[in-house]
Amino acid sequence: MLSVQLAVTLSLVVSTLATGLLPQIPSVASFSPSLDDNFQLIESVRIIVDSKVASQGSPSLLDFAKVFRNDLSTVTSTPILPVHVSNPDIQTLSLPSIFLTIDTKKSYSLFNGKPTEEGYDLVTTRNSIIITASAPIGVWWGTRTVIQQAVLAAASGSKDIFIPAGNVTDTPGWDVRGFMLDVGRHWFATDFLSELCIYASFFKINEFHLHASDNLWNPAFLYGDGNEGWKNLYAAFRFQPAQGSHNAGLVPRKNESWTQSDFRAMQTTCAQHGVALIPEIDTPGHSLVINQWKPQLMETGAPDHLNLSIPETIPTIKGIWDEFLPWFSASEVSIGADEYDANLADDYINFVNEMSSYIHQTSGKSIRIWGTNEPSDTLSVSKNITIQHWDFPGDDIPVRLMDAGYQVINSEQSFLYLDGKTSEDGQFPQELNQALIWSGAPGGTGWAPNIFSSDDASNNTSINNPNLRGSIMALWNDWGNNATTRFEIYYQLARSLAVFGEKAWAGSEVRPTALTRSQFDVAYPILNAAAPGQNLNRVVPARNNVVYDYKTVSNGQSTAIASVGPPYTMTFNVKPSARSPSQGLLFEGIDSKLHVANLTFEATGQLYPLGYVLPLDKWTKVAIHATREYTYAIIDDDPTNERYWTTLMDIWGDYMATGNISFAAPAQTFGGDAFSGTIKDVSIVLGV
Ligand SMILES: *[C@@H]1O[C@H](CO)[C@@H](O)[C@H](O)[C@H]1NC(C)=O
Ligand SMILES: *[C@@H]1O[C@H](CO)[C@@H](O)[C@H](O)[C@H]1NC(C)=O
Ligand SMILES: *[C@@H]1O[C@H](CO)[C@@H](O)[C@H](O)[C@H]1NC(C)=O
Ligand SMILES: *[C@@H]1O[C@H](CO)[C@@H](O)[C@H](O)[C@H]1NC(C)=O
Ligand SMILES: *[C@@H]1O[C@H](CO)[C@@H](O)[C@H](O)[C@H]1NC(C)=O
Ligand SMILES: *[C@@H]1O[C@H](CO)[C@@H](O)[C@H](O)[C@H]1NC(C)=O
Ligand SMILES: *[C@@H]1O[C@H](CO)[C@@H](O)[C@H](O)[C@H]1NC(C)=O
Ligand SMILES: *[C@@H]1O[C@H](CO)[C@@H](O)[C@H](O)[C@H]1NC(C)=O
Ligand SMILES: *[C@@H]1O[C@H](CO)[C@@H](O)[C@H](O)[C@H]1NC(C)=O
Repeated sequence: MLSVQLAVTLSLVVSTLATGLLPQIPSVASFSPSLDDNFQLIESVRIIVDSKVASQGSPSLLDFAKVFRNDLSTVTSTPILPVHVSNPDIQTLSLPSIFLTIDTKKSYSLFNGKPTEEGYDLVTTRNSIIITASAPIGVWWGTRTVIQQAVLAAASGSKDIFIPAGNVTDTPGWDVRGFMLDVGRHWFATDFLSELCIYASFFKINEFHLHASDNLWNPAFLYGDGNEGWKNLYAAFRFQPAQGSHNAGLVPRKNESWTQSDFRAMQTTCAQHGVALIPEIDTPGHSLVINQWKPQLMETGAPDHLNLSIPETIPTIKGIWDEFLPWFSASEVSIGADEYDANLADDYINFVNEMSSYIHQTSGKSIRIWGTNEPSDTLSVSKNITIQHWDFPGDDIPVRLMDAGYQVINSEQSFLYLDGKTSEDGQFPQELNQALIWSGAPGGTGWAPNIFSSDDASNNTSINNPNLRGSIMALWNDWGNNATTRFEIYYQLARSLAVFGEKAWAGSEVRPTALTRSQFDVAYPILNAAAPGQNLNRVVPARNNVVYDYKTVSNGQSTAIASVGPPYTMTFNVKPSARSPSQGLLFEGIDSKLHVANLTFEATGQLYPLGYVLPLDKWTKVAIHATREYTYAIIDDDPTNERYWTTLMDIWGDYMATGNISFAAPAQTFGGDAFSGTIKDVSIVLGV
């Protein structure tokens, strides 16, 4: 979090005037400065929602205003007054106020000329900021602009925060600006996913695509001769069926599924930050989880494929959607439908068309599928279905699909795919490849949703193609639960989401205001550190970098610090006195635990032993050093021996890869779970 003092210094008025709007992420479409004084964000500022339209929409303008108020309080470290619902008049606007309103006569359009409700106008004068849009969502994005300007102004060293006087008019170039997380092969609880939504929304990303069913892919397990390894290969479906549901057998591991109320709470949190959850239930490929439940539906020799010709298969899939469609508030869902047998093209096409009609009839929603090459001379996929392109040349060529009248979303893997921790033979980068995103091919314009290829311009389209809906970046978890902690996923996404947010909103070199790479590089760390509403960096208060330092502690004692993000050094002395069966915990926090046995770290139910056995009845000094890339221990001050916590990843059955792991510090409770022994001199210091 960024802490900002509110006071008055005149010199800064001048510098703010001179710089105008500070480059933010994403860039705004236009800003015309005025000669008025800048608006000073002072403690007494009031957020006023126009009473005529306060309850309009779901979330309503008032709902968004309340989130805005909390965020403004956070970034200014000032308790902003409760949101005021009122009729605007000269009187109210003569006090410093931020006025939020809707004017349905306003219209905004995407690059292709289609109307959008996401645009907004922001008029700043000495006394007021007025945000006007044609719908609540537009106002919400306008509030993100105010928050970013406040954060950037504060970071420029000033004690006062000024929002430059003048007019912003802003609108996204594309409708779909999303990110996908593979939550099928890796379990994530909704608290973490909600934090990701909130973080992404700071960069005006409006969709979170949850790839919510899948399995690890390992040919020895799936296709090995008659060994039935497929029964044990990790497969998961994340929506927890109701008790007694006909779908109960789909989720044998309830501890790795979302209850309806957890899911709904997350969906509401995301919606209140302008982000729609787009759920994906992937069939008829990637369906091992269904076949583990109903093996009679399996395609012979392909346990991860459903045989669509078996009479019970499509009713089973519809029966799954029947239960879960009512959970979802988005107007679209994804049925996955990727990587199925090319020799079953007609079955496949009939299936996706049938699901499109069925889901539309039962819920009014439309569907998306992944681009899939399904050669058929007689049938074609309905144009009601949006196609999410991800691969050349396996799926249909996106420019041809758009020419043929299909709506397309760009998820081209060469720009937009990441894999948790590592990818086979380094196919994908750790973060979105900044060089590629900013400059594309040599002499190129950089990536934008209309760019599908970095070396073949014939595969790009124009920004105003009416059938290009936008883009979704994706992070896959091919190596499953134990490859990464949830924060390692966030570390891969943090900068990626920000750069994606810029390109998905503004395109590349379309608008004169578009960010340059160096402007982005200046703004990003400031905005990442200050992004309100979540604490994915697990920042905690510290004095001279010391979070705490206890000489003596008693077993079971707790602190106010729940978890600490890297980089940190956690040091302690420990003397175990007995090896009880569980051996107990040295430390526990909301994100991790450290077991005595083998100095085993635990995160999200996964165990990572260091393999070091602490001697009984003898003091051992342990120093844990963690960065975002690794965690290691130094025992008894022996600097020549750094012992790393690692994990082993099975790379599609081809080879095993060892990876380092980054853990948050288990800072909250000392000596729990029947630990028998003594711990002392516990400190956590920021930095390694
Ligand atoms: C800003 O917008 C207001 C209200 O529409 C208008 O009166 C004013 O002239 C505009 N100022 C600039 C600098 O464009
Ligand atoms: C799919 O099921 C049909 C009907 O039972 C059967 O004739 C066919 O052989 C099956 N195909 C595969 C690949 O399992
Ligand atoms: C597309 O959806 C509409 C309803 O929105 C329906 O009337 C039409 O038959 C569908 N077309 C196809 C090809 O599925
Ligand atoms: C297509 O993309 C490449 C790589 O980004 C770029 O060099 C080229 O100019 C683009 N072509 C068009 C027509 O947009
Ligand atoms: C571009 O599209 C063509 C067909 O138009 C396709 O054959 C080719 O694979 C695509 N090129 C790239 C680099 O993806
Ligand atoms: C410690 O690790 C060793 C080998 O890694 C293992 O055999 C042993 O069972 C582990 N002990 C505990 C208590 O987990
Ligand atoms: C869920 O339970 C299974 C079986 O007991 C266990 O292996 C897994 O680690 C648990 N998952 C989590 C997230 O705790
Ligand atoms: C992680 O899971 C894989 C199977 O997906 C297994 O081969 C590997 O041993 C596990 N690694 C650890 C450290 O438990
Ligand atoms: C873990 O990180 C350390 C320090 O960067 C490095 O030397 C080591 O090679 C890494 N191990 C693995 C398995 O990547």
